[in-house]
Amino acid sequence: MQQAIAILDSGVGGLTVAKEVMRQLPREKIIYFGDTARAPYGPRTPEEVRLFTEQIVDYLIQYDPKMIVIACNTATAAALDYISSKVTVPVIGVIHPGARAAISATKTGHVGVIGTVGTIGSGAYTAALKQLSPYIGVESQACPELVPLVEHGLFRSKDSLQVVERSLRGIKDTSIDCLILGCTHYPFLMHTIQTVMGPNVKLISSADETAREVSTILYDKGQLASSMEGPVHQFFCTGDPEIFQSIATEWLGEHIKRTP
Ligand code: SIN
Repeated sequence: MQQAIAILDSGVGGLTVAKEVMRQLPREKIIYFGDTARAPYGPRTPEEVRLFTEQIVDYLIQYDPKMIVIACNTATAAALDYISSKVTVPVIGVIHPGARAAISATKTGHVGVIGTVGTIGSGAYTAALKQLSPYIGVESQACPELVPLVEHGLFRSKDSLQVVERSLRGIKDTSIDCLILGCTHYPFLMHTIQTVMGPNVKLISSADETAREVSTILYDKGQLASSMEGPVHQFFCTGDPEIFQSIATEWLGEHIKRTP
């Protein structure tokens, strides 16, 4: 049986990473877990987020994945080191890939980061950016209203522009030339965020770079899938399966079938 790549998130946000892994590595089977009943993780304590992440990993490990992607910035900040020390398969998060992508994109050395209260409060992006480039200037802004908008499937609603405008007020008039979408839910709002920030700010989603890291790790370990048959992905969520199914089907552009 083909070993899968396990991808987990607090909800539907990690689908932005899953979609990019599917695009870059179409032969790989994915097992996705969205903890939609307990999302958002952003306002929770790091201890709680670490516990939830551990519970999900304990569940996923029974499927014998070949690697685990923590496709949630809040969980990456709170639990990546802990989970990596607990399991024997490679575990990656989304913060370092996002920081790397921003460093290669910025021309002025002044970057912005938006994320949940948990991610921004952890300082993990600033630390990752400064580790790569000590003189980088970083502007950070927590945007707690955005994840609920996405989890409720309202990312294309008329109200979303107003909510995004309000959320980005603090960072919009700074001189950043790129903005890291430091939450895997935010690519759902990419067009609206771009409209608000204007054309001179490049938006950085960690999804591409994370998928590249998955590919590099599996290549180095000689574990890239070789089957010519298309993989059958599996999706799990803890909340309302109908909402998850509808968002996942729209985002991934393929029908996600329900099994009892
Ligand atoms: C959240 O659940 O609050 C957001 C997930 C993320 O940080 O990517």
